[in-house]
Amino acid sequence: MGRAKKVVLAYSGGVDTSVCIPYLKHEWGIDEVITLAADLGQGDELGPIQAKALKSGAVESLVEDATSEFVTDYAFKAIKANALYESRYPLSTALARPLIAKLLVDAAEKYGADAVAHGCTAKGNDQVRFDLGILALNPTLKVLAPAREWKMSREQTIAYGEQFGLDFPVKKSSPFSIDRNLLGRSIEAGPLEDPMTEPPEEIYLMTKAIADTPDTPEYIEIGFEKGIPVSLNGQTLDPVTLISQLNEVVGKHGVGRLDMIENRVVGIKSREIYEAPALLVLIDAHRDLESLTLTADVTQYKKGIEETYSHLIYRGLWYSPLKESLDAFIDHTQERVTGMVRIKLFKGNANIVGRQSDYSIYSPNLATYGEDDHFDHKAAEGFIYIWGLPTRVWAEKTKG
Ligand code: ARG
Repeated sequence: MGRAKKVVLAYSGGVDTSVCIPYLKHEWGIDEVITLAADLGQGDELGPIQAKALKSGAVESLVEDATSEFVTDYAFKAIKANALYESRYPLSTALARPLIAKLLVDAAEKYGADAVAHGCTAKGNDQVRFDLGILALNPTLKVLAPAREWKMSREQTIAYGEQFGLDFPVKKSSPFSIDRNLLGRSIEAGPLEDPMTEPPEEIYLMTKAIADTPDTPEYIEIGFEKGIPVSLNGQTLDPVTLISQLNEVVGKHGVGRLDMIENRVVGIKSREIYEAPALLVLIDAHRDLESLTLTADVTQYKKGIEETYSHLIYRGLWYSPLKESLDAFIDHTQERVTGMVRIKLFKGNANIVGRQSDYSIYSPNLATYGEDDHFDHKAAEGFIYIWGLPTRVWAEKTKG
């Protein structure tokens, strides 16, 4: 393929994406590099990052605040789908990628760039998510991934950048690779590569160690409307505030950590540590509210959809016809998932202790063992006779 002239680069200010700037210009002959840093609520000061990009040789340095879009259009969809990859990882990093891909494509179109670039390496999932996201949104754009092709070690990468006046003060010393946004933190590499090594306490920022959590339980109430969280303790909150406040209160009680070995898209098993306090509790609470408001068959059928949905997100197919079709199904199931879930937070546990909904299909008169019982007890015998008929025929044939 012909080399691109103007490129929009996904920029985090880290070693790899910083080195991408001089590398694209000097090794790949790109005329202009525009950087784009997405604010997804990671809590970094993006001003210095912007200045750093320009100092590293970018012609333009864009910063996009997309936190609200991230929660509303990405996280909330995942919550409605109870999306947990391999039944555990709430996809806090994975969900950010299609949004960043969209911001890159929008900027490329706006600034007349013929390519977009990212700093992902060849072994991770994020390269797949960026490449496929960009491809799906604008198949005419080239996708450049310098770090996937250069054969530099960490030290060589830093040395290469230093040649062009880049400096990396702290990054040299941290052995971990960390991704962070409003939904959570993903931490890997360094000593964590040994599956038997216990994660050191200092890697956690959003969740407290049990030893440092309050000695009294705290109750919280999360309100949902059509499957979407809308309030905390009776107070209606905007999506970003709701997640931020929930992160605080849940993390304070030591809830929201995960230590798992996961199967990457490229076939590698990797060990990742996650903290995603609000997201994990929201999925749990949402699933609970569904148990009160959805029929048994919808719940059961949706489970399979949820698994497929989580795989799509993990595997970079956010923008795909299947994902859109599943969204239509999921949205329809959420029409009556409105109500409130009560949770008790204490010493690393978030236990659901109550739930209510105007759309509840829990019937006290059917469930009760007390006097107000409306269940027709005589009907049970006939039901079991017919339900068990195949078993009876089989048993008589084989055991008789
Ligand atoms: N394994 C996670 C995912 O594929 C996180 C990837 C980024 N992790 C990191 N520590 N930089 O979504």
